[in-house]
Amino acid sequence: MTRTVVITGASAGIGRALAFECARRGWRLGLASRRRDALETLRGELDAVTAGHAPPATVAELDVADPAGAVPRLQALFEALGGVDVFIANAGVNEFTRIGKGGFPGSQRILQTNLIGTLATMEAAAAHFVARGHGHLVGISSLAALMSIPTQGAYCASKAGLSSWLGAARIELGRQGIAVTEVQPGFVDTEIMPDVGRYPFAIKADAAARTIVDGIERRRRLVVVPGFPWRLLRPFARMIPDSAWRRRR
Ligand SMILES: NC(=O)c1ccc[n+]([C@@H]2O[C@H](COP(=O)([O-])OP(=O)(O)OC[C@H]3O[C@@H](n4cnc5c(N)ncnc54)[C@H](OP(=O)(O)O)[C@@H]3O)[C@@H](O)[C@H]2O)c1
Repeated sequence: MTRTVVITGASAGIGRALAFECARRGWRLGLASRRRDALETLRGELDAVTAGHAPPATVAELDVADPAGAVPRLQALFEALGGVDVFIANAGVNEFTRIGKGGFPGSQRILQTNLIGTLATMEAAAAHFVARGHGHLVGISSLAALMSIPTQGAYCASKAGLSSWLGAARIELGRQGIAVTEVQPGFVDTEIMPDVGRYPFAIKADAAARTIVDGIERRRRLVVVPGFPWRLLRPFARMIPDSAWRRRR
């Protein structure tokens, strides 16, 4: 089935890999992020993948941290594509935020992008789906949603908030025939994760994208990336003792 998908944060990392994976499966693409030049370059690269068998991707420059500007641009993108079947809220940022060391502006940036802005874009997509009577909302959360990681308090809070919201959306929208998928990646080799080799079970972005798109096609409510071993380990995430984090930092 040909689907039309919009991906935020498509210019790099997991979002870019998702664009390639969806293009390989013949999906029609809408790509959004702040860097138009990177999106235009990606569009050209995707043309080589689809070799003229699919229409070129449509791109939209937008900053999810500014919902007043982003939402109308997103709605225009939905319209330009003639309707959207899948919306992947992937755009996200991270930085170290040391508590009590003047790091609140950084925390605010993270929450504004990963939580407030992401919810605004998903609200816009949900309204589009409700009007059409079908659709699939996908939120890229994180295993960090399940933990309290030192120097990552705001990031963990942003993803925990996003995961909670996705759970409510699944119940509310499920009644209207709209699917909701929460994605919890572990460690994926991208710009957001410098030194990814330090972390356990890290995978490449293209492998992550394959797992995520497989999960979307199966309309899974939760996609853990990679599935093994995180599916087995994630029930224990809240049991990690404080001393284990102190030793690492
Ligand atoms: N990498 C990991 O290990 C990992 C693990 C768990 C969850 N995640 C989540 O996966 C998602 C993608 O992360 P990534 O690892 O692929 O990071 P990345 O390589 O840094 O890519 C982030 C993407 O988000 C876009 N973006 C950032 N702020 C934005 C904004 N305000 N408005 C619009 N687009 C924005 C960036 O594009 P522009 O700069 O062009 O705007 C870029 O395309 C994030 O939500 C992240 O939290 C990643």
